[in-house]
Amino acid sequence: MNLTICPMTEADLDAVLAIETVSYPLPWSRTHFLDELGSPHAFPLVALDQDGKLVGYICPMLVIDEGHILNVSVDPARRGKGIGRLLVEKVLAECRDGGAEFVSLEVRPSNVDAIALYKGMGFVETGRRKRYYENGEDALLMEYIFDGEAGFDAI
Ligand SMILES: CC(C)(COP(=O)(O)OP(=O)(O)OC[C@H]1O[C@@H](n2cnc3c(N)ncnc32)[C@H](O)[C@@H]1OP(=O)(O)O)[C@@H](O)C(=O)NCCC(=O)NCCS
Repeated sequence: MNLTICPMTEADLDAVLAIETVSYPLPWSRTHFLDELGSPHAFPLVALDQDGKLVGYICPMLVIDEGHILNVSVDPARRGKGIGRLLVEKVLAECRDGGAEFVSLEVRPSNVDAIALYKGMGFVETGRRKRYYENGEDALLMEYIFDGEAGFDAI
């Protein structure tokens, strides 16, 4: 698939929210995404297909030497085609180039698709946050640790 990854802008938010609302029980609001767009540490990205249609997005942060992924979502009709992996790879490359020592994230233990994606890319489990989610579910903490050699296909 011919995909372009580029910075998210306010003009993307209708398409972003259309995916967000079908992806999570408690979706982020437009205001939440606007806050990301205005944050000096955040660099939200979108994936566009060959027709310019927004098919996924990712919201990462880089604070000094710590990267964090807050949200990654793909259009349900386009999942399983490598879009999520490409978005995470791009963020790993940006964080590595920006001086990060690791990139962390939280994920629901029940989210087997996302966990498979992260483990397949070299993320490891580093802990749990008890009752982190609104339904009382714990969060699994995962980290990708840079060891001087990129363990992913850097873009
Ligand atoms: C998680 C998510 C972003 C993955 O995006 P995607 O584009 O479907 O993922 P990819 O096609 O890049 O898959 C990459 C890897 O993830 C794993 N994976 C993805 N979907 C999977 C599925 N349905 N079943 C099992 N593994 C899956 C596989 O390891 C896959 O590697 P492979 O293609 O070599 O088999 C997507 O399912 C999504 O938007 N989910 C809803 C939002 C969400 O839960 N986000 C994560 C919050 S922590």
